[in-house]
Amino acid sequence: MVEATITRAGTMNEKSASGELEVRDVSKFYGTDRYPKTVVDNCSFIVKRSKLTVMIGPSGSGKSTIVRLLASFEQPSTGVVLLDGKKVTKPDRDRLVVFQESALYPWMTTYENVVFGPKAQGRQGEPLAEAARGVIDRVGLSQFQKSYPNQLSGGMQRRAELARALINNPAIMILDEPFRGLDAMTKGLMQEYYAQLFENSQSTHLFVTTDIDEAIFLADRLLIMSNFPLRLRQVIDVDLPRPRRLADVVTSDAANQLKMTALSILHEEALKSFAVGNQMADHFIESYKQRYRPDASD
Ligand SMILES: Nc1ncnc2c1ncn2[C@@H]1O[C@H](COP(=O)(O)OP(=O)(O)OP(=O)(O)O)[C@@H](O)[C@H]1O
Ligand SMILES: [Mg+2]
Repeated sequence: MVEATITRAGTMNEKSASGELEVRDVSKFYGTDRYPKTVVDNCSFIVKRSKLTVMIGPSGSGKSTIVRLLASFEQPSTGVVLLDGKKVTKPDRDRLVVFQESALYPWMTTYENVVFGPKAQGRQGEPLAEAARGVIDRVGLSQFQKSYPNQLSGGMQRRAELARALINNPAIMILDEPFRGLDAMTKGLMQEYYAQLFENSQSTHLFVTTDIDEAIFLADRLLIMSNFPLRLRQVIDVDLPRPRRLADVVTSDAANQLKMTALSILHEEALKSFAVGNQMADHFIESYKQRYRPDASD
């Protein structure tokens, strides 16, 4: 189906919530006391208020695990997650997650999917209908309110999911690889559309990805994560001007420089994942570092 409805990201009618999330000394172990398996290894970082923070790390490094901890679907083994300075322990609409897998109910229309959560929370009547029409308009799906998920393209389904989260006006919006699996053109459109949504909202977002171009295009701050088990390797501020357009960013020297820096760290981490203890790989990693980051100490 053609993405003809992408015209503009609607402006906010209501004030967006905007929180600040802090991850302090968080680790997550699975397994048994005797044979613990560390998946998240002592991570500390801040998802800053009204900024778009992007977490990038190799596949299988533990990113979705930390997302589950941030949303309180699971508890950290050590450390704490704080929202605006207060420890969080239970899932709440103040931290909503949009996952890669579609979570739309296939038997409900776009509109029904969007109002389902708020209705369960006791919201109803014309105020809810108006809010639903508002968020559906913001994601460009007004003409598809009565469509079922299987009548929507992949990109439209992702936008319906965004609408479903946005109607709750969360303090923190967490997106875990939401555009993975989309074809390249739809993915590019979605990235631009999502950037516009964020720029119009001033709310706090954490976006998780393995795609470096997506990360640089979207981020105000980039959290570069290690290979498994998950550690924070480096934080990079991405001071590219907003509003952003894909064509401007891919041709910008500043963006390319940031990409090289981030890639050199990510390549080291990715190499480690298939070359643990292999001397030749260690040598390769060292020479890679020397070539791209001769001043690096880590
Ligand atoms: N409940 C669990 N019990 C045991 N090990 C787990 C559990 N959950 C995750 N893991 C381990 O953590 C690893 C990382 O998983 P996770 O899904 O967090 O990675 P990811 O970075 O999100 O990967 P991807 O980029 O592919 O989505 C898994 O390969 C698995 O070994
Ligand atoms: Mg994941």
